[in-house]
Amino acid sequence: MDSESVKATVAVTGAGPSGLCMHKTLRADGFCVTLYEWRKNVGGLWAYSDNPAYTTALPVTRANLSKFTCGFADFPIPDRICFEASVQLVRRNEADTGWLVTVEKHGRVETAEFDKVALCHGYQTKASIPTFEGQDKFEGTILHSQAYRKKVVVVGLFSTAGDVIPDLMPVASKVYVSHRRGALPFRRYRNGTPNDLGITWRRRQLDQFLTKYLPRPCKWVAGAAIPVLCRRAFDFKLDPAWRLEPFPSITLNLPQFFELVPPYLHDGSLTSLHDLTRFTGPKSLEFADGTVLDDVDAVVLCTGYAADWSIAAPFVENSRPSHATATQRYGGLPLYRLYMNLFPPRYADSCVVVCYHAFGKSNGFSFADGLPSREAMEEHIDAHQQWIAARWAADCSADTSAVKQWEFQQWLHHAAGTGMESLGWGLKGWLFWLKDRRMYNLMNHGVETAHLFSFFETGRRPTWDGALEAVIHQNEVVREMFPVKDIPWSFGDSESTSKL
Ligand SMILES: Cc1cc2nc3c(=O)[nH]c(=O)nc-3n(C[C@H](O)[C@H](O)[C@H](O)COP(=O)(O)OP(=O)(O)OC[C@H]3O[C@@H](n4cnc5c(N)ncnc54)[C@H](O)[C@@H]3O)c2cc1C
Ligand SMILES: NC(=O)c1ccc[n+]([C@@H]2O[C@H](COP(=O)([O-])OP(=O)(O)OC[C@H]3O[C@@H](n4cnc5c(N)ncnc54)[C@H](OP(=O)(O)O)[C@@H]3O)[C@@H](O)[C@H]2O)c1
Repeated sequence: MDSESVKATVAVTGAGPSGLCMHKTLRADGFCVTLYEWRKNVGGLWAYSDNPAYTTALPVTRANLSKFTCGFADFPIPDRICFEASVQLVRRNEADTGWLVTVEKHGRVETAEFDKVALCHGYQTKASIPTFEGQDKFEGTILHSQAYRKKVVVVGLFSTAGDVIPDLMPVASKVYVSHRRGALPFRRYRNGTPNDLGITWRRRQLDQFLTKYLPRPCKWVAGAAIPVLCRRAFDFKLDPAWRLEPFPSITLNLPQFFELVPPYLHDGSLTSLHDLTRFTGPKSLEFADGTVLDDVDAVVLCTGYAADWSIAAPFVENSRPSHATATQRYGGLPLYRLYMNLFPPRYADSCVVVCYHAFGKSNGFSFADGLPSREAMEEHIDAHQQWIAARWAADCSADTSAVKQWEFQQWLHHAAGTGMESLGWGLKGWLFWLKDRRMYNLMNHGVETAHLFSFFETGRRPTWDGALEAVIHQNEVVREMFPVKDIPWSFGDSESTSKL
């Protein structure tokens, strides 16, 4: 870090997992940070709230990753946070040299100036609420899952429906689920062990290597293997009448977890319906196959969320894929122009938009050094949007905020200076293997905990003295709790205490 940026002030919006990690990392890197959060507490959507204006995990929501892989790299959580402070707008100052952050707190609106800004206020903020023909005739309650606190035709079959349906079952006389296509019923556990414990650093590298260089065979293997795994995940046959199949491609959609739902379909207490198309009366609905359902009390829309970047509207641009053929094929919403889905090119040295999905991965991030020129970033964004357009053409439900994992992960670790190349096959990897073979194996094949990212001394970012013990401890706990997990080491009498 240069001496100029040591004194730089940074505004961070949102005290969810991304904002907290951002705050902590920026402070460790010497920035003077102010964090704005419009609620009274930290935790983002994981801090349950009755307030329907907030996106919130429900009391029944279980994380889809285990605590071993989505923990924080080190401690403690920072303390300088402005609660009940709602960020209204972020814009450039008149001289275009810094940032003006307008904040409303207890009815007073104030604007403060910062050198840099990090936008971490979540990307699942605004409820996506579809409208249906004849909706005005319907007299029952239509609730989006954001406002849901009880009731009965559930629209959408992904993770939120996976929370809402089991919650409804004991209190509703009958529950229906309306979905327009198949869905992969993933489980959080396999043979009693959290699924994410099967993903090690080495396996992730291999996966990224193969999807980069052999995309078609990978897609084919995933397309063949995933349905088999899904069908074998339950001790009953998946009935075609439930329309879970054809399964969507795992290479185009994020895995979703609703393993508690198929048993209700199996015992008949839940019925699958074919895509709600319109409301036909005060309490009746019609579905794509012509089915009409009467006496419906409520419809719960578990139809997902979209990012609300209105506070950044003055400077985060968007566009459609520019290539002629791609434009013809791409019919989705305009895409944000962010380099690596993080930096608006024009202000890449002072603004970052952190909406990265898995919170374990936001740990290692601070403002990246050595970004390419603005032109190169714009070119990269154009090429990336072509990639998104091609995925969208294959499946219009494909995640349009996706990144090429093999490119993004490599870039992120390089930018953050985590030193993870010491676990690879290059010179650094061999040096570490020679120095501490057991730790090399443990880190590559054991639990992929975020403590790995605070382990290697690279001079680029602070390491954590407790990282080595924490990595060993996490693996010991996992070995004790889940004996079926194959961890290739024994550290009972460990002498492994090296730091590279
Ligand atoms: C129901 C649900 C369950 C999920 N489960 C998982 C899971 O199991 N595993 C996983 O990896 N991901 C999961 N996700 C994805 C989720 O996005 C992440 O878990 C994580 O919460 C993202 O952290 P974040 O800090 O980016 O955003 P958030 O947690 O949304 O935090 C954003 C914060 O910004 C604040 N804020 C927003 N706007 C303003 C403003 N204008 N001014 C001031 N403060 C503001 C909000 O109050 C909030 O505290 C889930 C998402 C949902 C909706
Ligand atoms: N930890 C957990 O267990 C947990 C719990 C809840 C949520 N989450 C996370 O929160 C995020 C949001 O999940 P989500 O389940 O709320 O939303 P989602 O993943 O976006 O799924 C939305 C569902 O609604 C359907 N849908 C969307 N628009 C529709 C429309 N206009 N008409 C009919 N159906 C429509 C979709 O169908 P199509 O597929 O046909 O578009 C899909 O079935 C995800 O990242 C998820 O992982 C996690």
